[in-house]
Amino acid sequence: ESTVVSRKGSQAPTPPMSVKGIGNKVAKPDYSDSKIVLAMVGLPARGKSYLSNKLMIYLKWLEYDVKVFNVGQLRRTRAKQKAQKLGIKEDHTASWFSHTNAEANQSREQLAEDSLEMLISWLKQGGNVGIHDATNSTRSRRASIEERVAKEKGIHLIFLESLCDDPAVIAANVALKVSSGDPDYKDMSPEIAKRDFLRRITEYEKVYETITEPHLSYLQIVNVGSQVTVSRIHGYLQSRIAFYLMNLHLKPRSIYLSRHGESQFNVEGKIGGDSLLSPRGLQYAEALPALIKDNIGDAPLTVWTSTLRRTIQTGSFLQYPKLTWKSLDELDAGIVGDQCSRPLQQAYPDDFANRDEDKFNYRYRGGESYRDVVVRLEPVIMELERQENVVVIGHQAILRCLYAYFHHLPQADLPYIKIPLHTVIKLTPKAYGCDEERYALPIQAVDTHRPKPKGPAPAINPTTARDYYGGATK
Ligand code: F6P
Ligand code: PEP
Repeated sequence: ESTVVSRKGSQAPTPPMSVKGIGNKVAKPDYSDSKIVLAMVGLPARGKSYLSNKLMIYLKWLEYDVKVFNVGQLRRTRAKQKAQKLGIKEDHTASWFSHTNAEANQSREQLAEDSLEMLISWLKQGGNVGIHDATNSTRSRRASIEERVAKEKGIHLIFLESLCDDPAVIAANVALKVSSGDPDYKDMSPEIAKRDFLRRITEYEKVYETITEPHLSYLQIVNVGSQVTVSRIHGYLQSRIAFYLMNLHLKPRSIYLSRHGESQFNVEGKIGGDSLLSPRGLQYAEALPALIKDNIGDAPLTVWTSTLRRTIQTGSFLQYPKLTWKSLDELDAGIVGDQCSRPLQQAYPDDFANRDEDKFNYRYRGGESYRDVVVRLEPVIMELERQENVVVIGHQAILRCLYAYFHHLPQADLPYIKIPLHTVIKLTPKAYGCDEERYALPIQAVDTHRPKPKGPAPAINPTTARDYYGGATK
């Protein structure tokens, strides 16, 4: 296929009229050689499930196949089946976790083993990182995990121990366990549940052995990220895991996402380029400081923008430290973005039809796909985890990607997430997931959202720029 590609400033070429497969579909990276058992270690209420979940979301973002195998969940499923069969009541009280309860101990070892077996078969079927979410709090338990994994060629084992001596963090984890309708305590009052859970922790403390086995590969994390010890960690993926965990923290904070104010190109229905704000966009930029100040008061804050003028202009009235990120620049629409002078679908009908078939994977000729953007945003995600309050002034595609990370949304939906102009989205990370508030400023702007086409891509007619955006203003 030969396509003449012109750059900005030269005469735009007439694109070939009907070339199927124009642009590329970019495939998922091949991670088939990466196989890790990540076995958690830690007393109850030390944030093991929190860390497992965070790590899963991050690694899935990097397109590794990750699954958490939670031993407590398997225990509850089995206990329910047994209770139904024998007509007895389920027992998840502290005595079941006592080291003096031989029968229960045996069951717990069996559950941990069975869960590991499921994890290993899942890895063999193509998974990359299986997280064994259990206490794994004795040397003997860790030795049996080690022995089992050693039988599998190409599967690596690392332990992740979560240590915590911050009473506030422990209390918050205990409160979460007893107040979140946890299935272990579903029929108990919160007070009785709390007493029992604290007893369960005491039972575990009696036999707890922190990792000291020198030959093991492990990460020891104190108070969710405040200190991390790394031992015998090798290779790219293991190092990424270690680095990610080092950047985590639990301090309360919010991340504010805002697109730049309406740009001149937004109004004209053009994409790409480096245009300035429209008069309404400028109004939004001027209104932003009061909104942020009302929301955050005097708390410290950093403002991030892309290197494009429309985001820098939008942030220009905010009196906070600023950082300009190249990685935050809008998805590069390649030759389609360069060709700003004509309504888009008219100039590049095939690009649009093909893009709509698989918008996440579609890479514009000479430009990027959403997948490419996700990859280049990885350092931004890492830094967002490390920072406290941040205002990100970005672009439609970029903020969709960041938003999808924090809400853990699937790739196929990501390119259609609604991130309207002149709206601040406040995300506040919580134990599991994020709370969200949206503040829409009453300053009109064009609507640049295009819904996911239903069924086959529509026949393409010469159309106007307003049609590309759906023609609506809000
Ligand atoms: O239209 C505004 C804009 O930010 C363009 O610069 C960019 O190409 C587009 O949105 C990305 O959104 P979509 O992937 O839906 O075309
Ligand atoms: C559990 O059953 O909740 C659990 C974490 O198991 P174990 O402590 O045996 O690893």
